[in-house]
Amino acid sequence: MLGVIGGSGLYQIEGLKLVDEVEIETPWGKPSDKYIITEYKNKKIVFLPRHGKGHLYPPHQINYRANIWGFRRLKINKILSISAVGGINPLLNPGDFVISSQFLDFTKTRPSTFFEGINTKVDINDKIDDLVSIYMKNGSVVHIDVSDPFCPVLRKQLENSLNTLGFRYHKNAVYAATEGPRLETSAEIKALSLLGADIVGMTLVPEVVLAKEINMHFASVSVVTNLAAGIKGEKLTSEEVIEMMEKKNEDIKKLILDFAGNLPDRYDCDCPFSLEGAAI
Ligand code: HPA
Repeated sequence: MLGVIGGSGLYQIEGLKLVDEVEIETPWGKPSDKYIITEYKNKKIVFLPRHGKGHLYPPHQINYRANIWGFRRLKINKILSISAVGGINPLLNPGDFVISSQFLDFTKTRPSTFFEGINTKVDINDKIDDLVSIYMKNGSVVHIDVSDPFCPVLRKQLENSLNTLGFRYHKNAVYAATEGPRLETSAEIKALSLLGADIVGMTLVPEVVLAKEINMHFASVSVVTNLAAGIKGEKLTSEEVIEMMEKKNEDIKKLILDFAGNLPDRYDCDCPFSLEGAAI
């Protein structure tokens, strides 16, 4: 089963057969919304709007831990994260798709681990007796390796699907995660560019980190909704972000369906072993 997290302007996947909607409560509180379970070609796709339907939560107030944990409760171990980003790299045009392979983290206020040592919460509904459960029950301190934060198998499948569909895209991007909710200053974007960032957004961290902490496969695809602050010298608006995401809605849906329909059976990656050797 595939989990899909939708970003700004993507609050549901229209036209898919609805199987169920589930509300989940976690030790970290409520996820952003109900999980929408849909079916496509006998495969289940579980969708969650990151900001909630109606865009209720700004990036710094999203309950990322609850969102990711909810997927685990539903026995999902593969997540496709979709988001809107500003383009920093001059090769990027609004409307392009971008697959990230690295991130730079400039977030400030977000809980970004499930493992809080002696203060770790345990989910009494979590019956999966794996390293995640063990480390939680032990109150372990955990430092996962994020040298390569994204699943290489899912990234490759994203490329395959984007090639099949003939959509313009870029791969191996560096995503700079800012705290928001304000947009960046022109100087910040210049600095991020010098640091090697290709795109800027406010939500990929800690989402990917939390997924990795519980041994999930996670990949991210973004849509460039605007050129980042100061590049065009014009005021940026939320309107243009939402407008572009709505314009790309059909393409995003096609991408999700091709991606979900062609997921490989075998995963030769280390994602299921992220926690091995990570606890002190
Ligand atoms: N900056 C940060 N987040 C964003 C942007 C941006 O320019 N566009 C869409 N999400």
